[in-house]
Amino acid sequence: MKICFATNNPKKIEEVKAALGGRIEILSLRDIGCLEELPETGDTLDHNAFQKAQYVRDHYGVDCFADDTGLEVEALNGAPGVYSGRYAGEPRSDERNVDLLLKNLEGISNRKAQFRTVIALLLEGEAYAFEGVAKGEIIDQRRGTKGFGYDPIFVAEGKKETFAELSMEEKNKISHRGKAVAQLVDFLKQKNS
Ligand code: IMP
Repeated sequence: MKICFATNNPKKIEEVKAALGGRIEILSLRDIGCLEELPETGDTLDHNAFQKAQYVRDHYGVDCFADDTGLEVEALNGAPGVYSGRYAGEPRSDERNVDLLLKNLEGISNRKAQFRTVIALLLEGEAYAFEGVAKGEIIDQRRGTKGFGYDPIFVAEGKKETFAELSMEEKNKISHRGKAVAQLVDFLKQKNS
């Protein structure tokens, strides 16, 4: 079985390949010759994940899956959500996104938040979705240098460290994306057995 993961992020590809243990061949966008930017115009994570997967299937004729992630902050009615990557506008900047989120949460005591990942899979003419959630809270100052995005200000439930203070392995075990990937991998292993 060969499936395209509609991303060029080498860390994401590596994570899925490691979880699959070589049973299924995973191709990146570059591997299938897709060099253009994928459309991502929806206002939900589901919409964007399916939109990306559908684009790849329709234009390149391959089975594929795509992911979309957002940070949903309770006191901000779920913002930045699907707009997490460009919360502070273009060009995208993790630094400015974190600054803006901290500013918007100034003086607010409810710091509850969750990361949510949706993976859309198009396989043999059928569509499937997998979701992973990591609940936690937003602290008021950055801590840690690992990871990316909002990791330095997010502490998962039951942890003391921010995501940016955890090793990649520790983060993957409890993260939104790690959980969604684990479900996808279980599903693909069953299909392929
Ligand atoms: P994407 O859908 O994986 O591209 O994620 C969209 C945006 O959400 C990223 O640009 C980051 O700002 C944020 N994000 C996604 N995953 C994580 C994570 O694991 N830690 C911190 N921020 C993340």
